[in-house]
Amino acid sequence: MDLHGKVALVTGAAHGIGLATAEQLLKNGVKGVAICDIDYKKGEDAAASVIKEYGKDRVIFIKTDVTKSNDLKEAFKETEETFGTIDIVVNNAGIIDDDHWETEVEINAKGVVRGTELALKYMGKDRGGKGGAVVNVASVAGLGKNSACPVYDGTKSFVVGYSRSISFPPLYKSHGVRILCMCPGFTDTPIAAGVLDAYEKLNFDKQKILSNVTMQQPDHVAEGIVHILREGEPGTVWVSDRCEPVYQVNFPELVKP
Ligand SMILES: NC(=O)c1ccc[n+]([C@@H]2O[C@H](COP(=O)([O-])OP(=O)(O)OC[C@H]3O[C@@H](n4cnc5c(N)ncnc54)[C@H](O)[C@@H]3O)[C@@H](O)[C@H]2O)c1
Repeated sequence: MDLHGKVALVTGAAHGIGLATAEQLLKNGVKGVAICDIDYKKGEDAAASVIKEYGKDRVIFIKTDVTKSNDLKEAFKETEETFGTIDIVVNNAGIIDDDHWETEVEINAKGVVRGTELALKYMGKDRGGKGGAVVNVASVAGLGKNSACPVYDGTKSFVVGYSRSISFPPLYKSHGVRILCMCPGFTDTPIAAGVLDAYEKLNFDKQKILSNVTMQQPDHVAEGIVHILREGEPGTVWVSDRCEPVYQVNFPELVKP
């Protein structure tokens, strides 16, 4: 995909990987980005700083809670009304909080389905759209690694499986939207701190874990997201970890219909 002139909507974009992704997309030539986030103050501040760099015609902030269908619907509507179209959706909003697992499932799993369904409604060729691309942000925690946050991991496994299945060739043939999945490793944001806290609750030594981790910056993941938007085949799953270049995950072919 050539990013020039495209329009993107990014959820959870007031901070961390989402904000870095919005910036990388603009740096790489998209026409406009909608920064969607539940946090009004952070979102407004983020938009203001991005506007300083890229201009007010290319950025909007839309207060959006991905657990609320109407919020997301309004976000898509406003993005299309502002920039004329939507070509790229990054379902990135996420939390880590296994003590409030129902909210975690609402945001990390159901929020991704809501965002993907709307992306298909706006971009699906079977619905009169022109196609496009979606990146669903999962985690290396969703690739079967044991960790201290089972529900968080489960939501991320869901995102991996869902992104692959919604790209099942007969479905892709119909909607024509390239749906990709990005699995970041430890990235320097409050989510990484949350993972470490969960280990600490199980009496792991946080400092010891940290000494074995290569903490990457959100920009590194954002560059990976730009790369897979350009190169990724439908339904592919990618890892951005340890500051290394992104790579594609190979899955065993277990079921052949
Ligand atoms: N940081 C890591 O180590 C890491 C690793 C793997 C995956 N991830 C995933 O990357 C994504 C981005 O996380 P991050 O690390 O940048 O964290 P972050 O906390 O910096 O950013 C998350 C953003 O999501 C927003 N958000 C939370 N709930 C929301 C809701 N209901 N609706 C809309 N926005 C909401 C927050 O306000 C925040 O701006 C998440 O899905 C996370 O699970 C992060």
